[in-house]
Amino acid sequence: MKTSQHLIEFYNNYDEDNRLAPKHGMVEFFTTMRYIQQHLKSGERVLEVGAGTGRYSHALARQGYIVDTVEWVEHNIEIFRKNTQENERIIVYQGDALDLSAFPDNQYDITLVLGPLYHLYTIDEKRQVIREAIRVTKLDGIIFAAYVISDGCLLDEGFQRSNINVMKYIQKGLLDSETFAAKSKPQDLFEFVRKEDVDELMSVFPTTHLHYVTCERSDFVGVTSHALDIFKNDKKS
Ligand SMILES: C[S@@+](CC[C@H](N)C(=O)[O-])C[C@H]1O[C@@H](n2cnc3c(N)ncnc32)[C@H](O)[C@@H]1O
Repeated sequence: MKTSQHLIEFYNNYDEDNRLAPKHGMVEFFTTMRYIQQHLKSGERVLEVGAGTGRYSHALARQGYIVDTVEWVEHNIEIFRKNTQENERIIVYQGDALDLSAFPDNQYDITLVLGPLYHLYTIDEKRQVIREAIRVTKLDGIIFAAYVISDGCLLDEGFQRSNINVMKYIQKGLLDSETFAAKSKPQDLFEFVRKEDVDELMSVFPTTHLHYVTCERSDFVGVTSHALDIFKNDKKS
């Protein structure tokens, strides 16, 4: 297993099923669904990698799309199964976003990676997840990758709510004292990135960049704690 035990312990004790229920979560859900629906056509196939309890996957399956999902944490899979309705064409597999070898090449119209990149700490591992997502996605298919954005979290959790002691984070080496860039490790659970990290990560892939959401106004980039990178798969095979 390549994925951290910290992750399993965290999700065993976290109410992932209700994460998108509060107002800010609903904004994330409806915004993401709006972009997914812009790109999906009737009868198309979706893969969700790191599906959690299936908020997006179930919503899409209930709209008639054929959905496969991969999730690492058994606890989330159990809730995913309880949430499944009879009319859904949906399958959940236990597996790791780093290794989608159970899935053939060029299979999906849309691949969602809304979570695994929150919990990977090296560029090599993040690229492996993106590489696998590209491999299983059809030529011209669309991939959605979500990230936790460091500056928005720092502004909110550090300066507004005081849940993070910024000085202690700097002393512990979790924040760079000059640039305020975050440096996460697996025990910190969430990997915080900036737009420039996403651009560097993506620079090696044959893709066309379509959107950088949560807000497409460039003067708001960084104010958010959650961003969605949407790109088209240009690989030939
Ligand atoms: C924040 S939740 C998001 C769930 C869902 N995609 C959503 O957006 O509502 C992240 C999910 O990704 C799963 N995950 C994290 N790393 C993973 C990996 N390497 N392979 C498979 N699942 C992973 C976690 O267990 C968790 O259920």
